Amino acid sequence: MLLILVTLVHAVSIVSALDPPQETYHGHKVFRVYPGADTDHKELLNTFTHNDQVDIWRTPRHSNDSYDVKVHPDIEIDNFIQELENLGTDYKIWINDLQELIENERKPSKNIEKRATRYIRHDAYHTYPTILSYMNTVAETATNADVELGELGKSFERRSMVYLKITKRGGSAGKKAIFIDGGIHAREWIAPAVVLYIIDQLAFNPYNDPDVSLMLDYFDWYLLPVVNPDGYQYSITTSRLWRKNRSTYSGRCLCYGSCVGVDLNRNFAFNWDPNLGGSTVPCAETYSGESAFSEPESRNLGRFLCEHGSEIISYISFHAYGQLWMYPWGYTYQLPHDYTDLEEVATNATRALRNVYSSNYIVGSSTNVLYPAAGGTDDYAKGQCGIKYAYTVELRDRGHFAFILPQEQIVPTADETWTALKTLADSIIRKE
Ligand code: ARG
Ligand code: ZN
Repeated sequence: MLLILVTLVHAVSIVSALDPPQETYHGHKVFRVYPGADTDHKELLNTFTHNDQVDIWRTPRHSNDSYDVKVHPDIEIDNFIQELENLGTDYKIWINDLQELIENERKPSKNIEKRATRYIRHDAYHTYPTILSYMNTVAETATNADVELGELGKSFERRSMVYLKITKRGGSAGKKAIFIDGGIHAREWIAPAVVLYIIDQLAFNPYNDPDVSLMLDYFDWYLLPVVNPDGYQYSITTSRLWRKNRSTYSGRCLCYGSCVGVDLNRNFAFNWDPNLGGSTVPCAETYSGESAFSEPESRNLGRFLCEHGSEIISYISFHAYGQLWMYPWGYTYQLPHDYTDLEEVATNATRALRNVYSSNYIVGSSTNVLYPAAGGTDDYAKGQCGIKYAYTVELRDRGHFAFILPQEQIVPTADETWTALKTLADSIIRKE
């Protein structure tokens, strides 16, 4: 029996390097485009959105800010550049060959401190099955806290949406809880990686950190590393830049390319509106779905958040990239009545984060710092479930590697985010 257990634990700890994805991105480029004083912004946005070979990765946050757009190699590059020039923009080729980045990403990280706890390495990205077996192992072996494994439900392809509830050993009931998720957008790999690191800290407290005991004294913790397991797995095996889930419904058109998938962060049932930062077009990257909660993943998460709405005081959803710490609302420019509380806690958290490796984060409401987009998890958590401190966090970086953040940045990113989280918990304790 013991032998079996030891072998099991061992098997889990082996790093499985990711196999190369099927789809390649040779010659795909990312342009950074700065609108000029005379640029017709509407026209520029049309140029991007009406071109199937252009994929908008980032929109400007203020007047001196830029777009990041990925451009397919089949595009008439000279025409595209001509158009950019005609529109009075300044541009540079930011990433020359995406495939090169993707191949680099899969190389094992070297020359950095190899950080591993007993069961998983935090300097590598992992497949969904590896994440699941890790979570099982944590539930069985956690030393520092009580850990319970739970399932929110099944994804479209019937993968289990697994979360951990981490509580103080023998702790009394009736505490407030903090709910953390990642990986609602498939290609944002750093988000699940950071959630796994947080799980390790809470369940094992590897550095004997007194703050961890405090975090468990005051709060119960829910951790859902991958909201969108189908999309996540697809982004590993097939298409690195996949964003949506993998749902298909009869009746949805099969037009250009593939019309698989809904943007789950446009599908939540609070002021749902596909015309506000989403799309009614099934092929679009931000397709909002046929209706609010048309997707099993969003239904499962939404149900859980509202069922535990009076218990959960803070909801934090990790995304990438851009380094933004955002609070609701996403569906309107108006601010929540208690936004000063959310702003204060986020400001404290990002100040602490900055003190670790000097990473700068911007704090604000998502509409004001990014763009309006209805149907997000944060709006739903706050507006529908009454969870006061609801945040969407865009992790590293600010566009240099964008979604393809190298593995050697996982630990530093997780470190600084973990520090932010401690301060967030502490700030909420002081305020409430
Ligand atoms: N980048 C995220 C997205 O596009 C931001 C979400 C912010 N929240 C919101 N409710 N719009 O989904
Ligand atoms: Zn995202």
